[in-house]
Amino acid sequence: MTRSQRRSAILGTGSELPTRVVTNRDLEKMVDTSDEWITVRTGIKERRVLESGKGNADMAFQAARRALADAGMEAKDLNAIIMGTVTPDYPFPSSACVLEDMLGARNAFSFDVGAACSGFLNALSVADSFIRTGQIDNALVIGSDALSRLLNWQDRATCILFGDGAGAVVLGATENGSGILSTKLRTDGSYVKTLYVPAGGSLKPATAETVRQNEHTITMNGKEVFKIAVRSMEEVSRQALAKASVDVEQISLVIPHQANRRIIVALAERLGVGMEKVMVNVDRYGNTSAASIPVALDEAKRQGRIKPGEIVLFNAFGAGFAWGAAVVKF
Ligand code: ACO
Repeated sequence: MTRSQRRSAILGTGSELPTRVVTNRDLEKMVDTSDEWITVRTGIKERRVLESGKGNADMAFQAARRALADAGMEAKDLNAIIMGTVTPDYPFPSSACVLEDMLGARNAFSFDVGAACSGFLNALSVADSFIRTGQIDNALVIGSDALSRLLNWQDRATCILFGDGAGAVVLGATENGSGILSTKLRTDGSYVKTLYVPAGGSLKPATAETVRQNEHTITMNGKEVFKIAVRSMEEVSRQALAKASVDVEQISLVIPHQANRRIIVALAERLGVGMEKVMVNVDRYGNTSAASIPVALDEAKRQGRIKPGEIVLFNAFGAGFAWGAAVVKF
C-alpha cells in the first residue's frame, strides 16, 4: 500500500448508555425549572446517569466490546486504544489503560485525549494519523464521559444539559477508497474560563473549601458557548469538506455533537442541509460530551441510515474552546 492510498476505515461501532434515566420531570423536583423550559431551550427530554460505584471505563468497556464484535475482531488484535474523555476513572493513569486491561488488549498501546466535547474527533484524528502513516494497522477509538460526576445538581443552568455514555469505533487500514477522507481540528484557549471546572487540577487542588464552594463542578457561560459553537462548527465543517474535496450536497448524513437541538438546527441551516439528513438523539441522552458522536453514529448505523459508499460529516464543539470536523466515506 502506498501512503497516499492508505486510509482508516470504520470497521465496527458500538455504544453503551447507563440504564438510569433522569427525565426533565425528575429535574423539576431538584431545581427551579420545567420540562417546557428545558424542551424549548435545548430539545432535551431525558438523559442517562451512570450508577454510583461505576466508572468511565465500565461504560467504555461495553461500547468497545460491541464495536469489536461488529468489526469481527478480538481485543488481542488491537494495535492501539485511544480514548477521548475528560472524566477518567482516576486523575491518572488514563482510562484507556483501565479499558485495555478490562478488554485484555495486551498488544495495544493506550492513552486518553482530553478535548471535552471534541474528544472523540481528536482521538479519531490521532488514530487516523497513526494508521495513515503506517505506524499501526488498526485502533479502537472511544468517546466516553460521565459528566454527571462534574455537575452541581443545584445549578439549573448546567445540570439540565448533560448525560453519561460511551461510544466506540474500530478503525482499520484500507486502500479501497473508503475511510476517513479528512479531519480538521481547531482550538481557541482564550475561552478556557467560559466553560470549565475551576478546581481539582494542579492550579487549585481539592480542599474542603473548594468542595464547599462547588468548584469541582461545571461553570459555564451558556450564551457565549451557543453563539460561538454554531459559527465555529459551520466554519470547520466547510474546512474539512474542502480538504476532502467533497461538496456539502454529497453528504448523506451529518452527525453533529449533541449539545442542544437549537445549535444543531442553526448549524444545519447555515450548512444548507435539511434536518432529514441530520442525526439527532439529544432528546434522549442530553449532551454526553465525547460520547455523543460515536453514540449517534452507532444508532444511525443500526437504523440503516448509513449505506456503503455514502459520505458522512461529523462535527463537534466544546470546552477549550476545542472544535473539529471529519469527513468519512463508508
Ligand atoms: N430552567 C428555567 N429557567 C432557566 C434555566 C432552567 N434550567 N436555566 C436558566 N434559566 C433562566 C435564566 O436564569 C434566565 O432567567 P432571567 O431571564 O430571569 O435572567 C433565563 O432562563 C434565560 O437564560 P439564558 O441563559 O439567557 O437562556 P438561553 O436561551 O441562553 O439558554 C442554554 C440557556 C440552554 C444553556 C443555552 O445558552 C445553551 O444551550 N448554550 C450552549 C451551552 C452548551 O451546550 N454547553 C455544553 C457544552 S459546549 C457544547 O457542547 C457545545
